[in-house]
Amino acid sequence: MVQHDVVIVGAGLAGQSAALAAMRGGVKDVALVSKVHPVRSHSGAAQGGIAAALGNSDPGDTTESHEFDTIKGGDYLVDQDAATIMTESAPDMVYELEHMGVVFSRTADGKIAQRPFGGHAYPRACYAADRTGHALLHGLFEQVMKRRVRIYSEWYMVSLILNDHRAVGVVVMNIDTGEIDVIRGKAIMFATGGYGRAFRITTNAFASTGDGLIAAYRAGIPVEDVEFVQFHPTGLYRHGILASEGARGEGAYLINGKGERFMEKYAPERMELAPRDIVARAEQTEIDEGHGGEDGGAVYLDLRHLGRERIMERLPQIRELARDFLGLDMIENPIPIQPTAHYSMGGVPTNRDGQVVYDEKNTPIDGFFAAGEGACVSVHGANRLGTNSLLEATVYGNRTGRTIARYIKEGYQSANTDPAVFTDALKKATAYVERMRSMDGPESIGDIRTELKDVMMDKCGVYRVESELTELTGDLRDLRARFDNAKLTDKGKRFNTELLEAMELDHLLELSEAIALGALQRKESRGGHARTDYPDRDDKNFLQHTLAYRNEDGTPSLKYKPVVITKYEPKERTY
Ligand code: FUM
Repeated sequence: MVQHDVVIVGAGLAGQSAALAAMRGGVKDVALVSKVHPVRSHSGAAQGGIAAALGNSDPGDTTESHEFDTIKGGDYLVDQDAATIMTESAPDMVYELEHMGVVFSRTADGKIAQRPFGGHAYPRACYAADRTGHALLHGLFEQVMKRRVRIYSEWYMVSLILNDHRAVGVVVMNIDTGEIDVIRGKAIMFATGGYGRAFRITTNAFASTGDGLIAAYRAGIPVEDVEFVQFHPTGLYRHGILASEGARGEGAYLINGKGERFMEKYAPERMELAPRDIVARAEQTEIDEGHGGEDGGAVYLDLRHLGRERIMERLPQIRELARDFLGLDMIENPIPIQPTAHYSMGGVPTNRDGQVVYDEKNTPIDGFFAAGEGACVSVHGANRLGTNSLLEATVYGNRTGRTIARYIKEGYQSANTDPAVFTDALKKATAYVERMRSMDGPESIGDIRTELKDVMMDKCGVYRVESELTELTGDLRDLRARFDNAKLTDKGKRFNTELLEAMELDHLLELSEAIALGALQRKESRGGHARTDYPDRDDKNFLQHTLAYRNEDGTPSLKYKPVVITKYEPKERTY
């Protein structure tokens, strides 16, 4: 068993921001545990920008406008006090990142350049061409290395150790050796990312399998609002790989198979720069009504009028991606795209200081913290605005790191945890891993994973309906039964990626049940959750966050908790 003051699981922007903030707050011993090397974290895939009302492109912008756009964009499921903190902190956060060495694109007079993004009333996406997440992640990682944060790279978290409503450690597996051990901490933080890999078409990295949500859920903590999954409008057709919204921010058009700019019908004022839920639904409607292109399943992103120079300067990465994956040069051709699962609005519930809370009254768990996509604070509500994810990860990562520093210095009471708590947790986790490794039934893990993604995409995608969601819950039960009869061919310990994938699939199967039940019970349409049988938002019954708790048999049960409304009463949402 090893021990650190602070143990942060997940080393993307939220985890690294928290590590730095905790150290700046005086904590000396901080560890980052990550199943991939930190600079391969999924934050690096964010392309188009980080939002902040700097006013560099339009001096009329204000943090209040950003706050309102975020709340309206989230279809009023946003906890408004959380959005206020995020949007007011945004300008300082961006300057701090710049001072750390992050290289942003510039205006002609040397200021940080800002481009428009969907649902934002002003151009407020600060960007580094179309590699913003990559630039931020590398900038932060230099600081993390400089501060000598202890990094457990390619270590997989198997379980969270709670004792008497207090987080005291995690059980981890060294992927390289297969060794399983306990890491004890005075404070444990999850910054483990989302669960987009539950869907067939996704922008998400292979690592985005909801591990933190499941570790918390299995320890008795609910997951919040997991039925809200964002489908990004521009995934490369059939691959799902992100073609940044920055393209539309630069002026790209969306056209259907007949060459029409169809957004005129759906969001006549904002057109291609309406929020993502609206644009994704518009695309899906065009496809479903037979106006798609290719074999009918795609619409097109058309950048030709932007010209070579602008594309090469501002969007070089997506041009490369389209050439590599579609064999098309966007300088000369419209590229086929489709909605792609992109962002998990749901996560482990936290309060505004990043403390994990476990009930409808927001009672915190001692010593347990979370931030980033795997957490739900909830600043994104039912639909996140583009560029608010990098912002949330850095602002709330930072804020949580500061809370942790205060907790270690002022609030931490020595736990004197009975050593048996750790040995029991280690035994249980080891037995779980060995059960997975020794699976020897007739079913294939790969087949089950493919079918899970298919049913989630087809029955819980952009549009949802009761009959399909009910079918889905049955499908998930069948898949679970098949998983219990699956086979692992690699029985080895060293770098056993098949074992890892089996555990990830186990997580996704369990989380998908919570997603499906949340979607089935939410008989309304709000943000990213669109029910064809309940097409309207229903504030009377569903202006509430969903909390999914795990029953003993692994199935979910739901409770609800109120949304925090401070300034803006819910209104009809038009663009
Ligand atoms: O489209 C994009 O560049 C993605 C950005 C985001 O999800 O915030």
